[in-house]
Amino acid sequence: RRQWLGVIEEYRDLLDLPEGLQAVTLREGGTPLVHSEWLSGLTGAEVWLKVEANNPTGSFKDRGMTAAISVAKHEGDQAVVCASTGNTSASMAAYAAKAGLKPLVLIPEGKIAAGKMAQAVVHGAQIIMVRGNFDHCLDIARGLARDYPVALVNSVNPVRLQGQKTASFEICDFLGDAPDYHLLPVGNAGNIAAYWMGYQQYSGLGRSSRLPVMRGFQAEGAAPLVTGEPFPDPETKATAIRVGNPASWHLAEMAAKESEGRFAAVSDAQILAAQAELARRDGVFVEPASAAGVAGLLAELAAGESYAGRTVAITVTGHGLKDTATALESFTDIVDTVVDADVEAAAAAAGLA
Ligand code: F0G
Repeated sequence: RRQWLGVIEEYRDLLDLPEGLQAVTLREGGTPLVHSEWLSGLTGAEVWLKVEANNPTGSFKDRGMTAAISVAKHEGDQAVVCASTGNTSASMAAYAAKAGLKPLVLIPEGKIAAGKMAQAVVHGAQIIMVRGNFDHCLDIARGLARDYPVALVNSVNPVRLQGQKTASFEICDFLGDAPDYHLLPVGNAGNIAAYWMGYQQYSGLGRSSRLPVMRGFQAEGAAPLVTGEPFPDPETKATAIRVGNPASWHLAEMAAKESEGRFAAVSDAQILAAQAELARRDGVFVEPASAAGVAGLLAELAAGESYAGRTVAITVTGHGLKDTATALESFTDIVDTVVDADVEAAAAAAGLA
């Protein structure tokens, strides 16, 4: 068996990247499409989870980052910058390390999960915390890239979407066609735009026979694509999607419109419940934001929507280990009982004896 080569080498002929580009890769992509018996049973559909936690830094961002960092290196850049709610910065820091570039990260004060922060720090990023939210950070990152010798690798850099669209290719390759529906969390809106690009490209090439309906889910406290207005003070426990003014707003709206899809909001309670259920029923531990697509499916079912007989792909975008603090918040007792080092004592405590 050959090793998976990473998304640039696997799909190079389908990506709009410079000729002869040397890939900076950690062998991202090739992530599992896991069948959800739980959600398939609930819906009467075949529901598949695209588990993006299985990327090198634990989120889907690596797909776009291999492309963005490869191009930055190709163009002779020395330093790269991004604004981030955590995952982009973790990914950028790792790929910059691999490429020998200097990573500069702008994050919103106090709103980054500890695991993501650890990744950026340990990979050697310089971290600037901004008194403001992600949208402020992105404005600053754009300003820095405009006025100083540092390359912007947020998804406003179109190269990122070239890498990210490979997730649709993988789904079609695995299923043998595009799904009927694709559900996913939406924050800065690059990912839904990239998926749609990928699905359109595959269908245009005749590698799939249909286009999925795209449904994007935002947190209630950060749902500009649902209300049609920016959120000046976005707020949600799903910090990864705490974005008030998505950079890819227009592309995301096009994806929803052209696919006859839509955006909807889910509450933090729905997101956290979906995260817990996914972990307990499917064995898939994702971070809160990553559960927004599943929360959306459950909310739609409750509202009478039917997916029966269809194929549904849901992207779960990042790993649960990135934010253990939020995951454990609802548990009052993490350890059920403490006993002496003794079989009988453990059996009694476990209710076995
Ligand atoms: N899920 C996770 C885990 C994310 O980290 C993000 C975005 C999204 C979903 C939404 O994807 O922005 O393409 O709509 N995180 C960005 C970051 C904002 O900085 O890591 P999107």
